[in-house]
Amino acid sequence: MSTPPADTSPAPLLAVRDLRVLIGGRHILHGVDLDVARHGVTALLGRNGAGKTTTVRGVLGLVPRAGSVLLDGEETVGLPTHTLVRRGIGYAPEDRGVFAGLTVAENLRLAERRGADGPAYGLVHELFPELKLRRSQLAGTLSGGQQQMVAIGRTLLNGNRLIIADEPTKGLAPKVVTEVAQVLERAAEAVPVLLVEQNLAVVRRLAEHCVVLADGRTAHQGPAAGLLGDAEATRRLLGVGQGPLAPLTAEADS
Ligand SMILES: Nc1ncnc2c1ncn2[C@@H]1O[C@H](COP(=O)(O)OP(=O)(O)OP(=O)(O)O)[C@@H](O)[C@H]1O
Ligand SMILES: [Mg+2]
Repeated sequence: MSTPPADTSPAPLLAVRDLRVLIGGRHILHGVDLDVARHGVTALLGRNGAGKTTTVRGVLGLVPRAGSVLLDGEETVGLPTHTLVRRGIGYAPEDRGVFAGLTVAENLRLAERRGADGPAYGLVHELFPELKLRRSQLAGTLSGGQQQMVAIGRTLLNGNRLIIADEPTKGLAPKVVTEVAQVLERAAEAVPVLLVEQNLAVVRRLAEHCVVLADGRTAHQGPAAGLLGDAEATRRLLGVGQGPLAPLTAEADS
């Protein structure tokens, strides 16, 4: 007797449907659909201005939104941001939001949320031992990669169900990009990650699934390897070519 096939497509952790955002009378998102898998990294891609950050801000309720955003099957559109944060969405924003004049320990302490289990310093220090070693160092004196450890570490403190990181490798030198990719890889072992990323080498290394936005809409959704293995689609959707040994960054260091 054969055993039934394993369920390989469980319901997504986050299911965004027809997300629309209107800011100042301008339609920024016209219908974004996106699924975040329950494990690993899902990449959110798109050219500059495609609507990636607005999508993340829409998911978090930081901008007025319409449509549907299901977190673990529960509708979240209509809920305020602080409720979404309490329900377990951790956010590392585009500008990192690290306080330069505070120490590493103080930055982490500020992110603590009251909860039944208390802050998960054990997990954060296990994944990023450097944060423990540098706990008394001012965050402003850390490297870009170490500051990303603080930003991602903060999202791991509170037993979150999902981490959203908006372009954590932006503007970093190639060596530091690799360091941050390792940080994200470690974080994603503990918590699923929605990663906004323009660096296709990072996407190739980390992401199983990807979603591509164009002009405020979902233009493509599927396995990351499928997209990155298709030079024509990559060029059409992302406007970049990939050589066989594509450099780490898909955009000029900015
Ligand atoms: N608060 C706002 N008011 C007006 N327009 C906005 C606002 N926020 C974003 N936009 C516009 O919406 C579009 C999408 O912006 P968004 O920041 O979401 O893009 P993105 O894909 O994150 O781009 P990037 O790759 O440059 O980070 C852009 O044309 C941007 O100028
Ligand atoms: Mg952005």
